[in-house]
Amino acid sequence: MANPSPSSSSLLNLPLRLPNGSVLRNRLAKSSMSETLGTYDNHATPRLVELYRRWAASGLGLLLTGNVMIDRRALGEPGNVVIEDESDMLVLKQWARAATEQGAALWVQLNHPGKQSPKGLNASNLSPSAIPFREDMAAFFETPREATVAEIRDIIQRFGRSAAICKRAGFSGVQIHGAHGYLISQFLSPHHNHRSDEWGGSPENRRRFLMAVYAEIRREVGTDFPVGIKLNSADFQRGGFTEEESMATIQALVEAGIDLIEISGGTYEAPAMSGAFQKPGKASTAAREAYFLEFAEKVRKRIQVPLMVTGGFRTADGMNAALRSGSLDVVGLARLLAIDPDAPAALLQGRDSAQRVRPITTGIKPVDRMGIMEVLWYTRQLKRIAGGGNPRPSESGLMAFLKSLMDSSWGKYRTKRMRA
Ligand SMILES: Cc1cc2nc3c(=O)[nH]c(=O)nc-3n(C[C@H](O)[C@H](O)[C@H](O)COP(=O)(O)O)c2cc1C
Repeated sequence: MANPSPSSSSLLNLPLRLPNGSVLRNRLAKSSMSETLGTYDNHATPRLVELYRRWAASGLGLLLTGNVMIDRRALGEPGNVVIEDESDMLVLKQWARAATEQGAALWVQLNHPGKQSPKGLNASNLSPSAIPFREDMAAFFETPREATVAEIRDIIQRFGRSAAICKRAGFSGVQIHGAHGYLISQFLSPHHNHRSDEWGGSPENRRRFLMAVYAEIRREVGTDFPVGIKLNSADFQRGGFTEEESMATIQALVEAGIDLIEISGGTYEAPAMSGAFQKPGKASTAAREAYFLEFAEKVRKRIQVPLMVTGGFRTADGMNAALRSGSLDVVGLARLLAIDPDAPAALLQGRDSAQRVRPITTGIKPVDRMGIMEVLWYTRQLKRIAGGGNPRPSESGLMAFLKSLMDSSWGKYRTKRMRA
């Protein structure tokens, strides 16, 4: 793994060689943002091709798709893309080419939501154990049922099959979504996983599902195809996945041959990934922008693996300082690229975007307390870019919320109709 030289002034531009030999053209990555640009029966669409063509043209080294589901029966949102067979090969190939023909790598983020799926979208939601949501969220998310061992084995195979299809479609790699409270993260967490069989209990047992998913993907795609993971540094939930366990999980993944680890944190119930737990004005974080840098530094001291950190990066100086510190190899950006898809061109030249990521609020307190509000607002910006237009960074939070609510109810209704 090539560490950037401390004397270089434009560290973002340095290429990075991954353990399997593939090379990223620079250190700037677009992190996953769920586009919900699939059809109501969850097929990929040409709008995704348009969106990724625009992002790749800005000079990014690596692009991660928004989460793509591996099972049509287990959606996280209406409009998710599902890859479980080859029926969309044509458009998947176009999507992959939109980035790769411009020299960028495009990896598909593969996910299973487990319990984190809104009420009424799927016929039923499974999780390692039947643990209810936080009281104030129980109106929106139902208590899941406990997955059977046969279901666990089926999901593992599905991750492998989806990865193999991504490889055949021409994507440059895949990323396992092991963060943010979705199914893999639920298995890892002692709060969500109370199983007493081989899939729960000790940290090693709780890790078994993730390690089996990784092994199955690797078996399907071989050693020359990059496989990465997005992993929580911690869940930020009482009794949840801790930094110590995250470190042990990273060690196990490195021994198994993982190519890139993206560090994030949090769940729907504790949305640390969007900075919810950053103390305003905390000097060390403000100077260093990113939320999970301290954990990356700890990993770096103990484990040799390419690291990407996502959450909070905003300025060229902040990104270069983080790279110069040697605690990470790749800078991940999400929200900034939804309001300024061309930002990487400036950042790679050491200049900042003219746009600023700001808190998005509706003025309705209970709504603003839920991280989902921000996600809805940003998704609307992605849809504008995908339609060939530009984002609208000044859009009102309240209007966006009301319109998204209508779209989402309509989406749920249409998804159910398509399944009927
Ligand atoms: C609209 C939206 C959708 C997101 N969807 C995903 C997703 O599908 N998978 C994922 O791992 N993270 C997702 N995230 C989280 C981002 O990848 C990222 O971790 C988070 O926004 C913090 O980075 P930032 O400060 O650069 O925005 C999403 C964020 C937003 C705003």
